[in-house]
Amino acid sequence: MEVFCCSLDPRKYDHVPLPDLGFAPVNGSDPHQFASRADDRVIDATAVLGWDILEAYGGEAVQVVLIDGPCPGQDTGCWPPKEIIEQEVESMVTADDIRQARARIAGRLHRTVLDLSSSFSRPAGGQVYLKPESLQKTGSFKIRGATNYILQLDPERGRRGVIAASSGNHGQAVACAASWMGYPCAVVVPEAASPVKVEAARAYGAEVIRHGHTSRQRLELAERLAEERGLAFIHAFDDPRVIAGQGTVGLEILEDLPDVDQVVVPVGGGGLIAGVAVAIKAQRPQAQVIGVEPEGANALQRSLKAGAIVCVDQPTSIADGLLPSRPGLLPFVLAGTHVDDIVVVSDEELCRAVIALLERARLVVEPSGAAGVAAILSGKVSGRDRRTAVVLSGGNLSLDFLSRLLAKPDGK
Ligand SMILES: Cc1ncc(COP(=O)(O)O)c(C=O)c1O
Repeated sequence: MEVFCCSLDPRKYDHVPLPDLGFAPVNGSDPHQFASRADDRVIDATAVLGWDILEAYGGEAVQVVLIDGPCPGQDTGCWPPKEIIEQEVESMVTADDIRQARARIAGRLHRTVLDLSSSFSRPAGGQVYLKPESLQKTGSFKIRGATNYILQLDPERGRRGVIAASSGNHGQAVACAASWMGYPCAVVVPEAASPVKVEAARAYGAEVIRHGHTSRQRLELAERLAEERGLAFIHAFDDPRVIAGQGTVGLEILEDLPDVDQVVVPVGGGGLIAGVAVAIKAQRPQAQVIGVEPEGANALQRSLKAGAIVCVDQPTSIADGLLPSRPGLLPFVLAGTHVDDIVVVSDEELCRAVIALLERARLVVEPSGAAGVAAILSGKVSGRDRRTAVVLSGGNLSLDFLSRLLAKPDGK
């Protein structure tokens, strides 16, 4: 299948290696000529992230027209019609891929438990089960996707090295999985990255590069370095191998609680919820899969509502793992079909959840990882008369943050 890239402003795509991928940019085209043909809309130019997916599939699977859309934050649509993209992109991560990922990564990672928590069940009025990925190797679920990717990497490519852009947990996970294989690794982290996460990536032997404040800035630098140094770029959430790895969380939930009624999952770029939702819906379609985003970083919620990828201009939250300015294209499409709802929580609710997990479950969970519990405690997700599995996605908290939180429990 061909891939079109239409831009009214060619400069905007300078950094996209279109010719390398064998695509022809059609700069200056009027997007409406396409839009009217399909009697639909056009993809936001910012959906350029989708190139990671196109690259992974040699540009064969999806037909995309990119144009300069309105400013980030405004709703745009897509051509070809969303259903076409859905058909093609959706098949990129299947329940079978997730089962294969499970077999591939088994033995290297912890099989985390799913524990019934009476302290959280009582106020919720139902059964609340916690899946503490905070106790997973590297302290978060991210090691699942990173390992699944790295184990599939051609060893010759791997020996040249890998690179990731990350607020911390994905970088740490890639660094750890790369160290198992003896592959060199570089990680681009934000200037203000959590020292715990940076130190952990360094301890696995990674080169840590501090750069910028936004996910886009980190992504651009990582992609440029990947090209310059010939490294394999491992996207944190917009990659089928990463999503399949994260989906193994869903398989484990089903093994431990086959009649689960709802699964609550923190959402950043959407890789975790996309994988979990594919796994859950394949086996138990009646179970609800609900995502939780911070109030100030609800790109997936807005995108699903708009039916197209929407950017949050300056995402803000105490949850540093949930701050991408937009969801990945692949997570967006998969969530559109498999996710039932997305709710948002405030920073105050996140802080309360971190403290409640410490007090009542004796679990150290970072704010990003506590988003599901924040949704249950605040009543934004009802647990009444249901069996709810809540994914505690990470536990990499600095003592400094913890002492500040304990001094001011509402985080203000
Ligand atoms: C602890 C934690 N939870 C959730 C997420 C969000 O994952 P995703 O980007 O796959 O939605 C992240 C991402 O870094 C994270 O570190």
